[in-house]
Amino acid sequence: MSKYSELKKINLNTFKKMKADGEKITSITAYDYTSAKILDKSGVEIILVGDSLGSVMNGYDNSIPVTLDEIIYHAKAVKRASKRAYLVADMPFGSYHVSDEQGLENAIRLVKETGFDAVKIEGGKGRASMVKKFTDAGIVVMGHIGLMPQMVHTMGGYKVQGRNGHEEMLEDAKALEEAGAFAIVIEGAVADVAEKISKNISIPTIGIGAGAGCDGQVLVYHDIFGLFDDYVPKFVKQYADVKTIVGDACKQYIEDVKASRFPAKEYTY
Ligand code: KIV
Repeated sequence: MSKYSELKKINLNTFKKMKADGEKITSITAYDYTSAKILDKSGVEIILVGDSLGSVMNGYDNSIPVTLDEIIYHAKAVKRASKRAYLVADMPFGSYHVSDEQGLENAIRLVKETGFDAVKIEGGKGRASMVKKFTDAGIVVMGHIGLMPQMVHTMGGYKVQGRNGHEEMLEDAKALEEAGAFAIVIEGAVADVAEKISKNISIPTIGIGAGAGCDGQVLVYHDIFGLFDDYVPKFVKQYADVKTIVGDACKQYIEDVKASRFPAKEYTY
């Protein structure tokens, strides 16, 4: 038990204190009411409605087709379940890529319609002016650097970043920090690079496939609980095998119904 597990509601100050105390930040994605309720009660500090919902909820090949309406739909469900966790929603591909103004309009819509605490956008230096615009307007922003799934086509696939050193990614992180981001996701990056960045900026880094040197970690709900097996990246640790539990339970139910064992008397009016 850490002193942070006693907190009734996680807020921006919590993350500043956690970074200063060297207390790791935990985050898991969620996309629906029931899952978010479990996570919120478990004590995770950040629930992220990620555009990973494109793959794990909808079966898209990547996050590109995800729309702002879809993010808003899922975020509203997560909000109804969450009392304690800090809530962050992804801005999907196309919702902020035309201009800073387009991004701001959509970010305003996202926080207004969902009641979420913050939005997340991908990109480094090139997004700094947008992060500043959002924060000036009162919208809290999480950055996202390293492997950026929304850039899958221009990046030439899902490739680990930072193999040529830390300079460029550190510049990106510093630009986001200066622009007002409250935290930065570092995805798919060499561990030493992510650690160097984490030590050289004052805001927390949240790693996914970026090693143990980050100030926190995030994983996708369907990955961490062993629900999604289209592909399982190297960085995923499955803490449960829910796919097998559900599959076995389903087989038992089928057998019971076929054998007229279900519904027995106790399940009957
Ligand atoms: O979309 C998502 O779930 C994310 C996390 C993996 C960081 O961006």
